[in-house]
Amino acid sequence: MDYAFLKNRARSVAHNDILKRWADPSENFSFNDYSIIMNNLRHWLAPTVKRLEAGLEILKETGNDYALDEIIHAFEHNIEDEKGDGKESSHAYLFNKSTQTYSNAVYSKEIKFCKGLPTTMLLKKSSEDFFKGDLFVMLGAALAQEIHALPQLELLLKGLEKNKSDFSESEWDNVEYFYEIHLDGTEARHAEDLNQTIWELIDDENKNTRFLEGFDGILSHLDKFWNGITEEVKFNENTSLCAD
Ligand SMILES: [Fe+2]
Ligand SMILES: [Fe+2]
Repeated sequence: MDYAFLKNRARSVAHNDILKRWADPSENFSFNDYSIIMNNLRHWLAPTVKRLEAGLEILKETGNDYALDEIIHAFEHNIEDEKGDGKESSHAYLFNKSTQTYSNAVYSKEIKFCKGLPTTMLLKKSSEDFFKGDLFVMLGAALAQEIHALPQLELLLKGLEKNKSDFSESEWDNVEYFYEIHLDGTEARHAEDLNQTIWELIDDENKNTRFLEGFDGILSHLDKFWNGITEEVKFNENTSLCAD
């Protein structure tokens, strides 16, 4: 499998219209736009641990030869990062903290987390399914998730930094921290640990096809997810999703 090719494919999905606009210094976002982006993202990011734990279960059920042990270790390390392993807060918590701190400082409003767009809820559901079924489909989905994560987080932070001057030092720390703990090499390691461990296992055409089913499947749902957010920011058609 050509890892550089897969990497480009996942990266191009992260370099979508809305994230590029978000990161562009000349673009401004209203509170409503910001809420749409962050609320929908939360539905994708918060269940990361749940997806990885489902994947780990498949790995453990499959048995324990040496090749699997290495992948199991990579998943366990990743889950430990996401959960914060007792010393640190979980990534899901830190994302919410970052998002709320930014919202309060830039818009003087609390962001409301509510139901996501149909494309978001579909991504959430189908990604859970990809991580529950077949071992090779799951590995493809996991690799796509982890490669896509790094450029996604880089662009998100770049967008947040446009308003850095609105923050006190400690407030900015709260905004940046969630991104820092990923961009310090941790997120790159999640993808690289898989790249170092999974290929030995994918040793025939059939396994390869299943692997690509998971890899492309997640990316195609992520693509629709980002397009859904792009359209919603443009037209705000689903205002009832966040109604009281
Ligand atoms: Fe994370
Ligand atoms: Fe990750």
